[in-house]
Amino acid sequence: MNAIVEAPQRRMVNGIESRFTSKAELLRGYRHVRYFSTNICETLEPEDYVVQTMPEASPTKWHLAHTSWFFETFVLERFFPDYHSLHPQYGFLFNSYYNAVGPFYSRPHRGLLSRPTVKEVFHYRTDIDLFVSELIESADEQLLAKLEPILTLGLHHEQQHQELMLTDIKNVFWQNPLRPVFRKREPKKPSPVPLMEWLRFEEGLHWVGHDGAGFTFDNEGPRHRVLVQSFELASRLVTNAEFLAFMEHGGYRRPELWLSLGWNTVKERGWECPLYWERRDGKWCTMTLAGMTELVPEEPVCHVSLFEADAYARWSGARLLTEEEWETAASGLPLNGNFVENEVFHVTPLACGAPASKPAQMFGDVWEWTRSSYSPYPGYSAIGGALGEYNGKFMCNQYVLRGGSCATPQSHIRLTYRNFFPPDARWQFTGIRLAKDVI
Ligand SMILES: [Fe+2]
Repeated sequence: MNAIVEAPQRRMVNGIESRFTSKAELLRGYRHVRYFSTNICETLEPEDYVVQTMPEASPTKWHLAHTSWFFETFVLERFFPDYHSLHPQYGFLFNSYYNAVGPFYSRPHRGLLSRPTVKEVFHYRTDIDLFVSELIESADEQLLAKLEPILTLGLHHEQQHQELMLTDIKNVFWQNPLRPVFRKREPKKPSPVPLMEWLRFEEGLHWVGHDGAGFTFDNEGPRHRVLVQSFELASRLVTNAEFLAFMEHGGYRRPELWLSLGWNTVKERGWECPLYWERRDGKWCTMTLAGMTELVPEEPVCHVSLFEADAYARWSGARLLTEEEWETAASGLPLNGNFVENEVFHVTPLACGAPASKPAQMFGDVWEWTRSSYSPYPGYSAIGGALGEYNGKFMCNQYVLRGGSCATPQSHIRLTYRNFFPPDARWQFTGIRLAKDVI
């Protein structure tokens, strides 16, 4: 995914910054991201593409069509001379939530759409790619300056859906008693993970948010100062073994450990363990994209909700960190980790010997729940037009997650990236990092 490269010059259009420098780079970046979406699907059968297991997850077929609709709507219909859609009805089917564009099909019912077929959706993708390529190749400098930022946004949008394709197909395969394998993976015997250390960060006034260089979503700005009190941060993520200790200590049966809403959720849904865990012959197993496997104690715990992460933190005498603490602690760290490019599609244990002087696993493996509500930064305003619906209207009843996961493209993530999900969401690759107040 490294074909997207940073541009030496910034170009801003409608508040979105582009980072491609030439037509060739733009085309290469476009084709690379679009190809990766289809590459994800290489082991799927037509039946797999259509299933929707829950309202918040979408069928693979829908993701493939929706990401193409995005380019058709925001690029081709605006900029391609005399463009006429070959499938005008697709606008209704594959618009996700853009009221300004028009009405859209019911999200919970996307799995009821047997047509267009998988084959037709792939043809749709090919058609869109041909039109977009032709538009880029024929664009003069003035048009290219307008196209680049929207295309860049469209590619980042597609990368977000690549992660969703993986998390959604994992849920589809888990719902199937056959527990199919998405990608084979050879199990590796992990070495013991390093002890968790507490790293101290002193009180200070810090800049957070995007500094304006390179692509960013609008919710990452404006950059602003925050007072971060002294805090301690766990040197690594919480492991399966540590979360098992919480469970064996009655973690899911003790209301005093839970937020009220979290405890209600535990009771209503009968939660007794993280999503995808189950007991088989006296051993804990978990669903992975390589099928059901025995639980690896050294791996970071994954597929927990904010409620579970918060209860675990309280049980362990700590708390979840704020997003400002996360960004302060991660600032200056290399953006390395277990990302989707590794094609492991699963979390990996922290290697022994990782230096404890700096926090490890801040990027990749699992999105880290923060205790910060997803809300606008001071001075935030959504970008203009229909694309203003991309982020801002979701700033209610959700929590911020940071750092990316094993399903996130590395070229998509940033220090300032703010992901967000409701507190009961568990099907994303979400995990736990602890923090402590310094008193
Ligand atoms: Fe989308």
